[in-house]
Amino acid sequence: MNNSKKQNNLVKARILTGDRPTGHLHLGHFVGTLQNRVKLQHSYDSFFIIADLHMLTTQPSLAKTSAIKNNARGMVLDYLSVGIDPKISTIYQQSKVLEVAYLALLFSMLVTVPRCQRVPTLKEVMHDLKIKKPSLGLLNYPVLQSADILMVKADLVPVGKDQESHLEITREIAKTFNKTYKTVFPVPKALIGDTGTLIGTDGQVKMSKSVGNTINLSDDFETVNQKVMAMYTDPSRIHPTDPGKVEGNPVFIYHRLFNSNKQEVLELEDRYKHGKVGDVEVKRKLAVAINNFLDPIRQQRAKYQNKTDLIDQIIEAGSKKTSSIARDTLNQTLQAMKML
Ligand code: TRP
Repeated sequence: MNNSKKQNNLVKARILTGDRPTGHLHLGHFVGTLQNRVKLQHSYDSFFIIADLHMLTTQPSLAKTSAIKNNARGMVLDYLSVGIDPKISTIYQQSKVLEVAYLALLFSMLVTVPRCQRVPTLKEVMHDLKIKKPSLGLLNYPVLQSADILMVKADLVPVGKDQESHLEITREIAKTFNKTYKTVFPVPKALIGDTGTLIGTDGQVKMSKSVGNTINLSDDFETVNQKVMAMYTDPSRIHPTDPGKVEGNPVFIYHRLFNSNKQEVLELEDRYKHGKVGDVEVKRKLAVAINNFLDPIRQQRAKYQNKTDLIDQIIEAGSKKTSSIARDTLNQTLQAMKML
């Protein structure tokens, strides 16, 4: 694939992105990346990775490894329910594409240990998960990610800001390889989403599974009601007649994002600021809005829910297709190194 071809629109540019299968995807994933992916898949040749090997970098226990198969299925179900279309996009499981391990090994020769130690996400993950000594696998995280990206020769990688440092390493590896041997890899660009992180139901900066402050795409009607009614709101407000704070209040942040009745949101904001509405009413209306928002996602999920075979086929087909691309790339890589 060369650039002039792409410019003539004969071949679509390729994107690769994805997630570690650590649990259910939630509203934070939706506003952060999923809705963007659903749009991008129509204009790009899109690959979505279920990054299970990356999950092992922090969670290698038997309990976790034996849950991968089901978690991968759950993630694909989440993807399908928001509208990622396996007919036009490729969804694959990282561990099913063996070539990635070989390529990551070759790349690891081109990156120094101090370079990997400087990647900011390493320190963040160690801090968050209270890891005192990282495994070699965790240190190698961005190198493995580089192999994911370069293996399919992705042009663009749509990710959150937290992944930017991994893209920098990827670009360095591509350039170093091309300079040392022969040009094999395009130097990919990060496509950083402009939506910030979504606040959690508890008012903490980030909605996150490990904190337990999520509303999941797979939550049912009652679960959503309960989670919304228990949400953190303006803590300084004691009586419904107290003027309330709308800015930074997660209940109103969600109203703005997920309530399609904009008039209702404006009215509620106004009444809240003037102490003319109770938290219970605002939350009840939010629960209705989020349930309305999730309904089409639930309907789509219902189509695939009990079709484990179909889900497995989607993963198999995507992984097979990706493997064949990876094999080509690996051959070119070894040829460039004159090892073949
Ligand atoms: N590290 C990414 C994350 O945690 C997941 C991932 C693995 C990825 N391989 C990738 C993202 C390749 C983009 C491209 O979000």
